[in-house]
Amino acid sequence: MSQHKKTADQLRSARWFGPDDLRSFGHRSRMMQMGLSPEDWEGRPVIGILNTWSEMNPCHLHFRDRAEDVKKGIAQAGGLGLEIPTISIDESFTKPTSMLYRNMIAMETEETIRSHPLDGVVLMGGCDKSTPGLTMGAISAGVPFIFLPAGPMLRGNYAGKSLGSGSDAWKYWDERRAGTITSEEWVGVEGGIARSYGHCMTMGTASTMTAIAEAMGLCLPGASSIPAADAGHKRMSASCGRRIVDMVWEDLTPDKVITPAAVRNAAIVAMATGCSTNAVVHLLAMARRAGVSLELDDLDALGRTTPLIANIRPSGAEYLMEDFYFAGGLRALMDQLGDKLDRDAITCTGKPLADGIAGAPVYNDDVIRPLSNPVYKEGSLAVLRGNLCPDGAVIKPAACDPKFYHHEGPALVFDSYPEMKAAIDDENLDVTPDHVLVLRNAGPQGGPGFPEWGMLPMPKALLKQGHRDMLRISDARMSGTSYGACILHVAPEAFIGGPLALLKTGDIVRMDLEARTLDMLVDEDEITARRAVWVAPAPRYERGWGYMFQRHVGQADQGCDFDYLTTQFGAAAAEPDIH
Ligand code: FES
Repeated sequence: MSQHKKTADQLRSARWFGPDDLRSFGHRSRMMQMGLSPEDWEGRPVIGILNTWSEMNPCHLHFRDRAEDVKKGIAQAGGLGLEIPTISIDESFTKPTSMLYRNMIAMETEETIRSHPLDGVVLMGGCDKSTPGLTMGAISAGVPFIFLPAGPMLRGNYAGKSLGSGSDAWKYWDERRAGTITSEEWVGVEGGIARSYGHCMTMGTASTMTAIAEAMGLCLPGASSIPAADAGHKRMSASCGRRIVDMVWEDLTPDKVITPAAVRNAAIVAMATGCSTNAVVHLLAMARRAGVSLELDDLDALGRTTPLIANIRPSGAEYLMEDFYFAGGLRALMDQLGDKLDRDAITCTGKPLADGIAGAPVYNDDVIRPLSNPVYKEGSLAVLRGNLCPDGAVIKPAACDPKFYHHEGPALVFDSYPEMKAAIDDENLDVTPDHVLVLRNAGPQGGPGFPEWGMLPMPKALLKQGHRDMLRISDARMSGTSYGACILHVAPEAFIGGPLALLKTGDIVRMDLEARTLDMLVDEDEITARRAVWVAPAPRYERGWGYMFQRHVGQADQGCDFDYLTTQFGAAAAEPDIH
């Protein structure tokens, strides 16, 4: 039984339904219009089930069904659950990039919660941007919430071999371009790589972000590891419904859960899982919404000291999220991290993190490794700085060939994706394995929207010679399922005049991972001369959301939130007047 800190008349929804006035008459009569009676809401927390179900989002296709499970749990705990549809941004179909709309999800979530008579919220998400977007908005709204992760899809299969989301698409595409697999085999991969609803089942951005949400205390213990198609996912959904009702009575608001300790725990878990590079951008944004200080250099420091112990693709060679679940899941991984985590951090359960993870068994210690036998001692993420990226750039050392850890080579620069696409399959392209491939004008403003173009395609000329990796640099992001020697998130981006804009084909570029540096070996005078003649490109948008986006989005090292949504404008906006 939870400890009630609130009385029924202190419920937020009571402001809508309680008073004996004309406005509340309207609210009550409209509830009755939906077939509800005063017994359904009087003295009961009203819980919004923010559902991102959509037939344009295969990762969330089961959410229509799961919302009923959540509703059942809410009713069991004495609340009233009301399903509210929200924008559903799918990673695969949304163009030019789903990242253009993460802040839209956040704004819609925040305003939906604030403007309605909701005492608590269940957030249903999982496909990449939905986890940060929903949670950023709910943090700013400030009412108790719990995050219900969509769960990974079943592992892919083709011809008896398991297939991983994204990673195997890139791999087989390179083989197709090199002419080593047939069209029939390619079609077989296409049909086998996504076998059920649920989010991508590699340790891509979706798995990374739901793990981060759980480690931050926003999910029930173990929730993020349950495969979407497992019956346990339905049971977990009902548990979310039961729990959020108690969270309302306990007044367990986000500020009590998302503390500096919780954010640090989330960052450490991200490193230990071999997280997507996108974790950097989203973690920075989530922390800042909660008023918790987090900088790129904090993440680099954690990357140096946290062993990668989840042996999951793309950092691992074989296993996928289903294997991770059967090996013990995130609870077991967190327990392995021991006192690296602050086990006293309070989670959405109202109890310390330790209560949810202590003694969680590991059933396969090749999948969830002990700290004494990591996949990599360090290296989930590293932050580089230098005259090409004074505000930082990110690389995932664990996913690239160590021979590139210290590299010098001539740049081959493309100003746009179409320009690169037109050249990359030219078998006579003047490129060597030492070249450094560069794509610029692909950042938050230049992309536009910071697309996942950073795993630049290997030139066909090199593929034919048997090469499968080279040093690549971009101000774009890359998919969490991608791999290779890719330097990403270069800040400031070229489109707004970052130094990457001044690089020329043939300039020598040097990356030193140990020293965490990335530089163009060009004289200062020459750089100054190039800057003097640099011309800013025309803005990408004349109207609409894109126009607002380009005026207010921050750079990668700031988390790409809108300037006016950060906590310097107040942790939460005022409650609405109800007249
Ligand atoms: Fe939805 Fe990968 S496409 S998580």
